Amino acid sequence: DLSPIDKAKFISAKRAAQFVESGMKVGLGTGSTAAWLVRCLGEMVRDDGLRIKGVPTSTRTAELARQVGIEVISLDEARWLDLTIDGADEFDGDLNLIKGGGGALLQEKIVATASDQMIVISDASKEVETLGAFPLPVEVIPFGWQTTRALIEETLVSMDVLGRDTALRMNGAVPYVTDEGNHILDLHLRRIGNARQLALVLNQMPGVVENGLFIDICDRVIMGFADGRVELRD
Ligand code: A5P
Repeated sequence: DLSPIDKAKFISAKRAAQFVESGMKVGLGTGSTAAWLVRCLGEMVRDDGLRIKGVPTSTRTAELARQVGIEVISLDEARWLDLTIDGADEFDGDLNLIKGGGGALLQEKIVATASDQMIVISDASKEVETLGAFPLPVEVIPFGWQTTRALIEETLVSMDVLGRDTALRMNGAVPYVTDEGNHILDLHLRRIGNARQLALVLNQMPGVVENGLFIDICDRVIMGFADGRVELRD
């Protein structure tokens, strides 16, 4: 039996799977909600004859997709995708997102940007008025990461944010390493007043590879509830 939160995630994934049609190239997100989607699609491939090619956004998702019988291709084999379905850590009324809680933001953003459409699947807890309560993940090159961190902290002083604490994401006693071999700084900003500007400023810094703000990328959010209801935002 599923917990209420897992039920909500499953319901949103199930609804999103209805947007997937045979012949599509589909970006497969990362995280616990996206994992439900991958399992749903695997079932449809096995039981309903759905024919799709999937482009995973992490090694974890690639492994799961293969396990459930989805044909996996690389982004460069696909070149462009019909649809990407992924989870998120926060979304606001403009469907701008914070992603990267699971550490896969870089591949997720590349894949979502290469897609005609992006659908976010989520339980109700991810909807916010203003982004920023969830710490913003920023992927940085290991070389000189402390210098990059200092530069980020200095820059935050002039940005419209409430908090300025930054933390190197750890994996036990060692820094977390992404699929691309980088580290992640989690920015505890509490409230991001101008997400579009912050995203641009961060990505202009040497040492920053990508940030977890997804601006104008998501087309639709499907929110699931434990009682089986879904709400669509677009
Ligand atoms: C992965 O890097 C993230 O962007 C995930 O999409 C996000 O953390 C959502 O994960 P859950 O579905 O597990 O909440």
